[in-house]
This record gives sequence, C-alpha cells and structure tokens, in this order.
Amino acid sequence: MSIISPSVLACDFANIQSEVEMINNSNADWFHIDIMDGVFVPNISFGFPVMKAIAKHATKPLDVHLMIVNPDSYIEDCKNAGAEWVTVHYEACPHLHRTIQLIKSHGMKAGVALNPHTPVSVLEEVISDLDLVLIMSVNPGFGGQSFIEGAIEKTAKLKALITAKGASTLIEIDGGVNDKTGKQLLEAGADALVAGSYVFKSENPTATIDILKAL
Ligand code: DX5
Ligand code: ZN
Repeated sequence: MSIISPSVLACDFANIQSEVEMINNSNADWFHIDIMDGVFVPNISFGFPVMKAIAKHATKPLDVHLMIVNPDSYIEDCKNAGAEWVTVHYEACPHLHRTIQLIKSHGMKAGVALNPHTPVSVLEEVISDLDLVLIMSVNPGFGGQSFIEGAIEKTAKLKALITAKGASTLIEIDGGVNDKTGKQLLEAGADALVAGSYVFKSENPTATIDILKAL
C-alpha cells in the first residue's frame, strides 16, 4: 500500500490546527512540509516557527521538503522543529554525500529531490545511502501546477536503479498528483505520493485521501 503525504502548502493557513487534525484523523501517512526560500525557488512559503506549530498537533511523521540553498545550515532547525524525514535538492548541494550524512547524524531519514531536468543517473553513487528520492513532477515553487508526464518514465528508471543496487530507498513523487497521475506513478514503482491541491481544494479532503490510498 502506498504512502500518502498531503502537502500542507495547499491548506487553509488561517485554520492550520483543524487542517492538521483532519490529516491526523484521515488515512494519510505523513505531513508534507514545503520550505521555500525565494532563492532556490521563486517563492517563499513558511519557515520553522510554522513547522513547529504543525508538529505540536501532528500525530504522523513530518516529511520536510527543503527548497532552499545551503540546506546544511538548517538541518538542526529541522530536527528541532520536529522533522522525521528531510529531503534536500540535488541541485542545491555541491557536497551531497556530506549533506546526507549530516541529516542522518541528527537521527532523521535522508531524502534527495530531483528537479524535472535532473536525470536519475546523478544518484548512482549515493542511492544506497538514501532513505528516499523525491521526483519533482512540476518545477518546484508552487502548488497547483500541471503534471509533467516525463515523471512516469523517470520513476521507472529510478526503480530500476534502486533494484539494481539492491537498495531499499523509497520513491516519492511531488507535483500535480491526482487519482489519474497517482495510479500511473504507482504502476511505475512509486512508493509515496505527495498531493496538495488535489486533497485540500477538494470538497471532502478525507475522502480524497482515501481515493489516493486505494489506488
Ligand atoms: C511544489 C511543492 C509541492 C506542492 C504540490 O514546489 O513541492 O509539494 O505543494 O502541490 P500540488 O499537489 O498542488 O501540485
Ligand atoms: Zn514538496
């Protein structure tokens, strides 16, 4: 069964506690937390005080997606704000191996995200060190964008790499996920699906989570 990680970027920030409780009481598995710095991506979302406020009420793991430059400087903040999974961008990490070890040294699970133009092959040498790879199926920075179809083939390529290396890395997909794209991604080998607007802009988010969970 797949892991469902609703992206709180799409929630109602004025009612964040009730949105968190909705996820707590749903069949979702994780909270996807998008941190943006206005430098790595052309948008600013929210920072650690908000993440802490979410963590205070959340009863499920925080799956943190750092869309920031120089993520090494903020790994400790992630830990202090309640992160369990921390994913950094390949494109933001000149010393990726060191960054992965830094995340793990704080007792968190380490993930690496790939922008749409970045091939899976760049992870060949580190895949066995990774708990998760996040394939971006939109250009990071905004919710509600349309799905880039190439992500399906990319998922299959990543699955083949993980299998070839005998690794146990999870594959997570982020951007434009709905029932249709979600199904294709799971068939291609995805383990976890992030969904923002598909969940939170739906009439019944709890039922929408069930739809994703049942794919
Ligand atoms: C985009 C973020 C996503 C975003 C997904 O940069 O990383 O997590 O919230 O939103 P949807 O599901 O609406 O594409
Ligand atoms: Zn994200």
